[in-house]
Amino acid sequence: MERLQKVIAASGYTSRRKAEELIKQGKVKVNGKVVTELGTKVFDRDEIVIDNKIITKETKEYYLINKPRGVITSTDDDKNRKIVTDLIPTEARIYPVGRLDYDTTGALILTNDGDFANILTHPKNKVDKVYLAKLEGIIKGEQINKLKEGIILDHTKVIPSRVKLKKVNNETNTCIVEITIHEGKNHQVKRMFEAVGFRVEKLKRERIGIFTTEGLQSGEFRKLTPKEVAIVYSLKK
Ligand code: URA
Repeated sequence: MERLQKVIAASGYTSRRKAEELIKQGKVKVNGKVVTELGTKVFDRDEIVIDNKIITKETKEYYLINKPRGVITSTDDDKNRKIVTDLIPTEARIYPVGRLDYDTTGALILTNDGDFANILTHPKNKVDKVYLAKLEGIIKGEQINKLKEGIILDHTKVIPSRVKLKKVNNETNTCIVEITIHEGKNHQVKRMFEAVGFRVEKLKRERIGIFTTEGLQSGEFRKLTPKEVAIVYSLKK
């Protein structure tokens, strides 16, 4: 169930604030009855009518994209940079679930389903976000242990659920580390490595929950299947 004003706004009829005014003014009917209470929750099947016009609800859409470098995960940008929602042709007001930096690539979900987005992002649901980070320098066991003990970011301790050194390149003095986290703090992976003395040269999200970029070239996307959507809903704690 969702709040009436949210459903009206999502339909494109008007903004959420104006929808709230219309509700207070007694102009909104749900299943034939005037509703004036703002927090009223409605089911998908409920009929909403404003000024004799039936409000058609926006259908939920779900996408997985292999985000390319040089694109921002936002729905608009004041600096006129490329935005990720421009890569998916749809009329629905989809938005990215969590953020990947401008220069980060990999698995990103976009949807207009707020509940679905919350399940994927809330740390309590322990949805894996698996990253491959290329580091400047070669990390040692001691520094990996420090990461595993937890790093304080924004006054809270973040503990990766897994850290694994995958590759070492002595010639370029770089290494590749796979790190799995459950939160989505701003620049989290870069800041965690920075805390143990490493700059992240390249970052790719390999997996979020059950979703990997397998089969998707950079910039390619696909719709999620109803089964995949159901699996995500089943993760809610
Ligand atoms: N952590 C980062 O530092 N950047 C990202 O884009 C994602 C996670």
